[in-house]
Amino acid sequence: MRVSDTADLWWKNAVLYCLDVETFMDWDDDGTGDFTGLVQRLDHLVDLGVTCLWLMPFYPTAERDDGYDITDFYGVDPRLGTHGDLVELIRTAHDRGLRVIADLVVNHTSDQHPWFQESRRSKDDPKRDWYVWRADTPPDTSDQVVFPDQEDSIWELDERTGEYYLHQFYSTQPDLNVTNPLVRDEIAKIVGFWTQLGLDGFRMDAVPFLLDTNGAEADRLPDPHSWLRDVRAFLDRRTHGGILLGEVNLPFEQQLEFFGGADGDELTMQFDFISMQATYLSLARCDAGPLTRALQGRPATSSDSQWATFVRNHDELTLDKLTEDERQEVFAAFGPDPAMQIYDRGLIRRLPPMLGGDPRRVRMVYSLMFSLPGTPTIFYGEEIGMGEQLDVGSRLAVRTPMQWTSGTNGGFSRAAAKKLPGPVVTGGYGPEFVNVADQRKDPDSLLSFFRLLVSRRKECPELGWGDFQVLDQPHAAVLAHLCSWEDGALVAVHNLGPEPAVVPLALDGCGADHLLADLLVEGTTAVDERGRAEVALEGYGYRWLRVVAPGTRRLL
Ligand code: NOJ
Repeated sequence: MRVSDTADLWWKNAVLYCLDVETFMDWDDDGTGDFTGLVQRLDHLVDLGVTCLWLMPFYPTAERDDGYDITDFYGVDPRLGTHGDLVELIRTAHDRGLRVIADLVVNHTSDQHPWFQESRRSKDDPKRDWYVWRADTPPDTSDQVVFPDQEDSIWELDERTGEYYLHQFYSTQPDLNVTNPLVRDEIAKIVGFWTQLGLDGFRMDAVPFLLDTNGAEADRLPDPHSWLRDVRAFLDRRTHGGILLGEVNLPFEQQLEFFGGADGDELTMQFDFISMQATYLSLARCDAGPLTRALQGRPATSSDSQWATFVRNHDELTLDKLTEDERQEVFAAFGPDPAMQIYDRGLIRRLPPMLGGDPRRVRMVYSLMFSLPGTPTIFYGEEIGMGEQLDVGSRLAVRTPMQWTSGTNGGFSRAAAKKLPGPVVTGGYGPEFVNVADQRKDPDSLLSFFRLLVSRRKECPELGWGDFQVLDQPHAAVLAHLCSWEDGALVAVHNLGPEPAVVPLALDGCGADHLLADLLVEGTTAVDERGRAEVALEGYGYRWLRVVAPGTRRLL
């Protein structure tokens, strides 16, 4: 196995960690998290073993979409720090072997952005064409809005000029017009600016919306994918291995186009929303079938392209790609109270409360996520099993301050509670019970389990690079899969149901001189002369088993 390859296409063997500077650690006690606080806490992330930070938007903002409404693409929100503080963070992270990427939110700006202020000044303003305007009355687009609780159209009338502007998200987020070459040049400049300051790439927000020109002078950009290829090529020229991690919540076949098909020359990585949603259906049914079918439905990609796996992110847990009946099944299992649901398509809960706090089940799900082919992505707080604060009543329910200690404000800040960006979680998932300081010292804590998963994941490049195969076995609740890469192979077996199971496996090409070595606990399992083995799982049990060939020099 050429381990050195994993240093070139580093994203294929990475472990990503998403955080919002605003809610991570407040060092100057003004109530808002800051870069200085994040730097102070970098060693927690090093200890956890993650290899790449994804910073949610840290730019100046009008604060109408938690930072995703930017008023200056070249700035740093002064509440979080300065450019100098950001550079200190990047430098310290790099020193610790951590890469840093950040959200690139260029589908839209804030309506407070000077470009939009100019654009709406008059129909012949030089910035007019930086946004998408229409003079005629728009048709009913209520079925296209992303936030149906707030919006009923993707067009908003601008009183001053009497025309409508496009906004795929909130009406305070006008869409940029990427058919305008000046806008495309500006986006390249933004990419160039932040990479020059040391960023290792971007999480690209809302990519399908960005590429959808909505009819606006489509002849000026007949193939938006060619532009995405240009952005990727530009990033490649400016960086050594910079990545574009795209948010593309679309069916797999369409996602393939965003990778650049077999050429793999557009997005480097994409989140696997389909398998994430199928995971919840599988969990609700205690049936591995939906997840198995989702994973088998992934299209073949270029060897440079990669899926990012996750079970939770900063948004609603969207279930939009399930059928209505399936979605209702997941709602019934994990969020029956309407206060837990949002937009008729998602949940505003974190994983542990959804699983009733059952530690076996929580660990099984994270073990599963880390063992799936792709690059695991952690949302801050998952490593300690944080819960949500439901009474926030929006996506912000899962964006509460990080819980460092059992002390005031969970050790996030020494400011008065009312000055924090949001409430600290109360109740059974509050900092008294769930915090980093306590779990650091406890070898049986979820944090210690995460450390183990991260470290095993990094030493098993089969998972990020290899061929994936579902192994036949008779238990509906069990997913048994094999990832193999060159001379390495790993079997992962997960029981999504509460009943214990003995799982018979048949391993092609193995014989009595092979054995299966557990990677999460001590133990080995024999393989017979026909390549058969039996693996025992408890209810919600999980095993990672390295296939040990005779004469291997791999450390066990
Ligand atoms: C996707 C982001 O994940 C979400 O938080 C945001 O509201 C929208 N894009 C608009 O930027």
